[in-house]
Amino acid sequence: MLINKTKLSAGLFHFINYLKKVIFLKTSFSFLSPAPQNIYLIPGTECNSHCIMCLNWLLKTKQISFKNWKKVIDNIRKLSPYAKVNISGGEVLMPGEMLKTVNYSISQLPYTGITTNGFNVDKKMAKSLISKGFSNINISFDGNTKNTVNLIRGRSFAYKKTKDAIVFLINERNRQRSKTKIIVKSVIMGLNFRELPALVVYLKKLGIDGIYFQPISPIYGSDQTIEQLKRSSLWIKKQKFKSLKAVINRLIEMKKMDYPILNDFGHLYSIINYFDPNKIQLEILKNINNFCDIDTTSLFIVANGNVYYCLNSFPPIGNILKNSLCEIVNSKKATLQRKFIRKCGRASQCLSTCLYKKSILQQAKMFLFLK
Ligand SMILES: C[S@@+](CC[C@H](N)C(=O)[O-])C[C@H]1O[C@@H](n2cnc3c(N)ncnc32)[C@H](O)[C@@H]1O
Ligand code: SF4
Ligand code: SF4
Repeated sequence: MLINKTKLSAGLFHFINYLKKVIFLKTSFSFLSPAPQNIYLIPGTECNSHCIMCLNWLLKTKQISFKNWKKVIDNIRKLSPYAKVNISGGEVLMPGEMLKTVNYSISQLPYTGITTNGFNVDKKMAKSLISKGFSNINISFDGNTKNTVNLIRGRSFAYKKTKDAIVFLINERNRQRSKTKIIVKSVIMGLNFRELPALVVYLKKLGIDGIYFQPISPIYGSDQTIEQLKRSSLWIKKQKFKSLKAVINRLIEMKKMDYPILNDFGHLYSIINYFDPNKIQLEILKNINNFCDIDTTSLFIVANGNVYYCLNSFPPIGNILKNSLCEIVNSKKATLQRKFIRKCGRASQCLSTCLYKKSILQQAKMFLFLK
């Protein structure tokens, strides 16, 4: 009953928010500015993995204290109480302040989810995580063989640990009859793309709720550019593009056959275009699809307290140590940045699951899918 009431209030909140967004985009009346519906918290970069596509584990990031993260979460409760909040790092399930932030968030915000590599999830932790009532637990698993997963994660135990974590979480979800969705996240790159259809078959057999693919972006935590990425072994090279296309088309067919692939069809087709060596970013050249409204849906808050509309291409709009979230999103700096975001023109390159633009129907479907 309580969950139904929460879901009803959340549905109403998002409906009104959507109407505000439509009018705001036409008029720019600031009093109609919608509340962010997707809020991403990155409370730290500390990590127990050594992934080749992410250097977070090497960074010594300045981190705000748990007291300040509590303030962030209390601010979110006021600004957007039914926002979908996703917490990632770094590795949030390592003992410490990130884990404290996760626990506080789920106690205050009903639509909290996490992204983890699963290394620390044993049976006991799976039981405790499921009992907390997260919307979703995302586990990163980027291949269907030991060699590939261990190579990508830079750890000899990665394949076994993550695979076990997925099984423990699914078993607990079933045992507790929990509505928490267990979702596997996979990065598509040169080293693993051929294994992905088999991975989907395996995960469906296990009883996974969803699999979400995102194409490789420039190495996280580095200053690598997309051009440098394209020259590296992480990219899918020209001579392998035909095979990539066949793999994604296979995933599209599997989705039609009810395999639990969460990417919508448009996203999967965009992934083919993203790797297509013959496509000279037509959208950018012709100025098609250069409209971006990420500021009306998303907000990112990172380890040092900086708040961003877009982590890829724009500077922070404020810092939580100086102002409240409400003050930051209503500031002159934020208002000015929104005008530049509209004309950013990089939308076809923004295909990670947190940046990819979803239609209202896709958003509603995702909202109903999550607990
Ligand atoms: C930065 S990690 C943090 C959470 C957790 N440590 C994990 O790996 O799941 C968040 C997600 O980004 C993905 N990721 C890391 N580097 C990436 C890259 N260069 N391009 C695309 N996705 C990447 C990870 O696989 C993971 O699913
Ligand atoms: S992708 Fe996740 S697990 Fe890998 S180094 Fe980055 S933060 Fe750690
Ligand atoms: S198009 Fe992409 S890079 Fe540009 S503001 Fe939008 S999300 Fe950010």
